[in-house]
Amino acid sequence: MIKKIKVDQLRPGIFVHDFNCDWAGENVFINQALIKSDKAVKIIRSWGIKEVYIDTERGLDVKRAKTASEVRRHTDVNLKQLSRNRGKNSPPVVPLKEEIKVARKIKKEAVNLMQQAMASVQEGKQVDVDRAFQLVQSMGASISRNPDALIMLTRIKKKDEYTLLHSISVSSLVLAFCNSCRLPYDMTINMATGALLHDIGKIQVPVEILNKPGRLTREEFAVMKKHSAYSAAILNQSKGLPEDAFDIALHHHERYDGTGYPDGLKGEGITFGSRVTSICDVYDAITSARCYRRGLDRVAGLRKLYEWSDYHFDKELTFEFIHCIGVYPIGTYVRLENELSGVVTASTENVLQPVVRLFYNNKNSAPMKIQEIDLSRFGINIAGYDSPEKWSSDKLQTFKRNRHELTPVQ
Ligand SMILES: [Fe+2]
Ligand SMILES: [Fe+2]
Repeated sequence: MIKKIKVDQLRPGIFVHDFNCDWAGENVFINQALIKSDKAVKIIRSWGIKEVYIDTERGLDVKRAKTASEVRRHTDVNLKQLSRNRGKNSPPVVPLKEEIKVARKIKKEAVNLMQQAMASVQEGKQVDVDRAFQLVQSMGASISRNPDALIMLTRIKKKDEYTLLHSISVSSLVLAFCNSCRLPYDMTINMATGALLHDIGKIQVPVEILNKPGRLTREEFAVMKKHSAYSAAILNQSKGLPEDAFDIALHHHERYDGTGYPDGLKGEGITFGSRVTSICDVYDAITSARCYRRGLDRVAGLRKLYEWSDYHFDKELTFEFIHCIGVYPIGTYVRLENELSGVVTASTENVLQPVVRLFYNNKNSAPMKIQEIDLSRFGINIAGYDSPEKWSSDKLQTFKRNRHELTPVQ
């Protein structure tokens, strides 16, 4: 059985199933291990890890601990509650179908700009800050028309595109966050520009470390950690960049409990912009496919952020971020209270009642005629998440045999 325990409960003989440490933002730590000594526990604590998942079938049990499924159930209830407490979001001004066409062009421009920025750095030239500002402004306009379009487009990355698209994705998430909190325009654009350029220093990290298809060694991680200082040094030479954007490049790996780098800053000692960007940065990293692992689906990503907000992130800002992404992001499989199952295809102003494409009736265990329904218009509630695996291969084959069209939006 998989259980979650505090690091203080770790002792020799326990098998760690998951070190639960992707909040660190890089592929740093080993995946699983049998704890053999007290020294090993000390080392794990020194990494800043606060809670781990253990496998009681492969090592000693810990009686006073919640099982992984209890943790998940508890988290899901809390995710729903925090959205309920925060009320409605602004409804999209333009339908997703329309905005996606504009967002595609913006993404292309952003990829172009990032490629040129990296080339400039390699040639020892400055980053064109004015162009970055202009781009972020058009990204901001797209996000305010419909945040789902640009976020969806930059979320899907081919494995070799990660470094490039990650920066654009983090910037889009920062824009969505600022919009949802109705932050002043100038502050929003400055933060999103910092987010767009936050990892530019990775260009100076050797490519074997940057794209290593396995866990980084301690020495490699020490090199990787330098990228935020490199980013800051590069941007320091670029004229016209505001202080908060520069700070984001330097401090996006600081963690609320002081376990981050490069300065080990804590709590409010980390600027607002860097606290927000760190949340967006980790969310994008854990939900993207990398050369060493599959990305988490978006709900699993939100669950992880929720868990880690106990220690590593600003709790209030994490809750705001979860609310802004929506506890039922596009592409999430859900089961309604009326026993119909479907996939979320668009958001509405009520984050708990999005638009859902229905395709299965659980009452008679049979596929149904595909129909799209705006739950907010009919006051229908979602009972819970369906796991994406449940709707994989077998069921989809059945749909095909029944000639139903099923095209979950990803
Ligand atoms: Fe980074
Ligand atoms: Fe990053």
